[in-house]
Amino acid sequence: MTASGTLGVGIIGTGTIANQHARSLSRHAPARLVAIYDVIGERAQEFGARWQIPNVMSSLEDLITRSDVDAVIVATPPFAHMAPTIAALEQGKHVLCEKPFALDPNEAERMTQTAERTGRYLSVCSARQRCGAAMRRAQELGAGGRLGEVYHVRSSQFRVRGRPGIDILKDVHWFIDSNRAGGGALIDIGVYQIDILLWLLGNPRVKTVLCSNKMGVGDPAPAPLKQDVEDHSVVMFTCENGSSGILEITWSSNMSGANALLVFGTKAGLRFGPLTYIEPGRLNPQRAVEERVLPPGVEDGCTEGFGDVSQQFVDAVLAGRQPYTPARDALEVTRVMHAAYESARTGQAVQLS
Ligand SMILES: NC(=O)c1ccc[n+]([C@@H]2O[C@H](COP(=O)([O-])OP(=O)(O)OC[C@H]3O[C@@H](n4cnc5c(N)ncnc54)[C@H](O)[C@@H]3O)[C@@H](O)[C@H]2O)c1
Repeated sequence: MTASGTLGVGIIGTGTIANQHARSLSRHAPARLVAIYDVIGERAQEFGARWQIPNVMSSLEDLITRSDVDAVIVATPPFAHMAPTIAALEQGKHVLCEKPFALDPNEAERMTQTAERTGRYLSVCSARQRCGAAMRRAQELGAGGRLGEVYHVRSSQFRVRGRPGIDILKDVHWFIDSNRAGGGALIDIGVYQIDILLWLLGNPRVKTVLCSNKMGVGDPAPAPLKQDVEDHSVVMFTCENGSSGILEITWSSNMSGANALLVFGTKAGLRFGPLTYIEPGRLNPQRAVEERVLPPGVEDGCTEGFGDVSQQFVDAVLAGRQPYTPARDALEVTRVMHAAYESARTGQAVQLS
């Protein structure tokens, strides 16, 4: 808890997603949005005017050394997550980093170790899904033993034409460049699914990863743009405790009506959208009996869309508890993701432990 009872927040990188954070925090009384910084000064100036942020800083150093900044949100592209995160932690600031956490496990390890050494909270915006009411309830049911042993999870999420830089967010081109983004659909939106799949399994350590990626679904990027990242990714992983997961994710596909998130336990299962508890009938075990878990009107997803992740971060830091998706979990997600890309490249399963 800070002296004022509120948390002073700075934002690093004032592009598309920073607006979601600013909108969310401007509606959240415990947060004070005090300063921003972007490598493109004009962009930061416009952003500051739009959200009435009092201090537009001209360097990262100036922002992270301010005494009224208790925490920062790193909302830069993936290639620029590690440096400001580590710099802010070293200045004693708590950090909420945009997803994907890091480009590779080495970066993720360095970020995690810095947070642990400095004793500051570091969490990652792949937590967006964890903030949803259904996800929290599902995780509680699993952790509370209502499902028995949770041994398998499965997620299929299909966009029809949703390639950033080509179909959506057409002015932002780093998404389709592997050097700057780290990959395509898998690292961009699959990161959310891997985060929650591992969370629903109780965060076991992943042992083996097998992946197949496909690029070239939909019209090619208009010249001079070049896409060298996947549109469609299929990942299977097995864990040290014997559990497993399957993920299918697309930026671009000719598929609809097939999104699903399923949790398989030895006593009962869960299906999302809406969250449904499934077990064998008492009189006829060959038939499944289904029960809605959440009351009518409670949405499955993030109740405030993207907003929840920054609000829950502020609330958790002020309460002195770890915000959702701690760095250690994000490191494991990064290891899985990295192994998946290696598997897709080599055509072989990758052993992580
Ligand atoms: N756009 C979305 O819908 C969305 C959704 C969820 C998460 N994200 C994630 O948020 C992050 C940012 O995405 P975006 O879409 O806002 O990108 P963007 O390109 O619109 O904005 C990024 C901003 O960061 C600035 N920047 C780059 N390097 C910097 C540095 N070293 N220091 C300070 N500023 C720097 C850029 O000038 C730009 O203004 C990415 O990791 C992305 O995966 C984006």
